Amino acid sequence: MKRTALITGATSGFGLATAGKLAQNYRLVITGRREDRLEKIKEDLSHHTDVLSLCFDISDLEETKKQIKNIPIDFSEISVLINNAGLALGLEPADKVDFQDWQSMINTNVTGLAHLTHLLLPTLKQQPLSDIINIGSIAGSWPYPGGNVYGATKAFVAQFSRNLRADLLGSSIRVCNIEPGLAETEFSKVRFKGDEAKAKEVYKNLTPLFAEDIAKQVKWVIEQDAHINLNSIEIMPSCQAWGPLKVNRESV
Ligand SMILES: NC(=O)c1ccc[n+]([C@@H]2O[C@H](COP(=O)([O-])OP(=O)(O)OC[C@H]3O[C@@H](n4cnc5c(N)ncnc54)[C@H](OP(=O)(O)O)[C@@H]3O)[C@@H](O)[C@H]2O)c1
Repeated sequence: MKRTALITGATSGFGLATAGKLAQNYRLVITGRREDRLEKIKEDLSHHTDVLSLCFDISDLEETKKQIKNIPIDFSEISVLINNAGLALGLEPADKVDFQDWQSMINTNVTGLAHLTHLLLPTLKQQPLSDIINIGSIAGSWPYPGGNVYGATKAFVAQFSRNLRADLLGSSIRVCNIEPGLAETEFSKVRFKGDEAKAKEVYKNLTPLFAEDIAKQVKWVIEQDAHINLNSIEIMPSCQAWGPLKVNRESV
């Protein structure tokens, strides 16, 4: 029987590509806030599998709870949770940012992700084999100027993933944190608040990761034999690597 996968943030980028990749072999619950897109994606994917679309904001805890509680019985046996919905807002230094942006990132990338996981753990635990795939980021391990709270939210995702593994040892649930580097999706458009030109600059004269690359990793991880748990995958485009630490020579 086909497993049922719930993918948050399936209206674009990694989430959308993952939904497409899993459609042949999984039943899908796709989520996001943009209802028109969700309906169109549901219509397209329905040629391949059964699809349920749920339109809600994962930072709205009451609404999220209601949506998960009301999942119809035929989609209720979720055994794959892909915690993908998330965002970065701004690239200004910490003293220049709008605090509301920090709050939005924390509410979505941390609270929303933890809440959804908490809501679905009992269901996941009941299935013979389950997977939680968290989409973290290299920003959770490697700091960069302007990464301030975004990187910190992804550091939470990394440690939460490891701690989940510790708690879930001996259960049917596996946990993996996938940590992508530079990838071309709507991510930069969101980060720069709709400024398409600025977003395009990020990917100029280089070959970034594409959404499909991450979708392939997700599928590969959840299709490992039951005795294998991939704890984390850090993945960058070949054109990206670490730089040297900076030193301010003006300081005494
Ligand atoms: N692209 C990169 O370079 C990169 C690198 C490392 C990690 N990541 C991470 O990868 C994940 C996916 O990002 P992406 O690159 O695919 O960006 P994207 O194209 O902007 O997709 C983000 C998805 O998250 C959903 N989303 C955002 N806030 C939400 C909220 N409050 N409630 C429900 N859904 C929400 C969006 O849907 P709606 O707008 O319809 O709600 C959209 O489907 C994110 O967690 C991001 O931090 C991205």
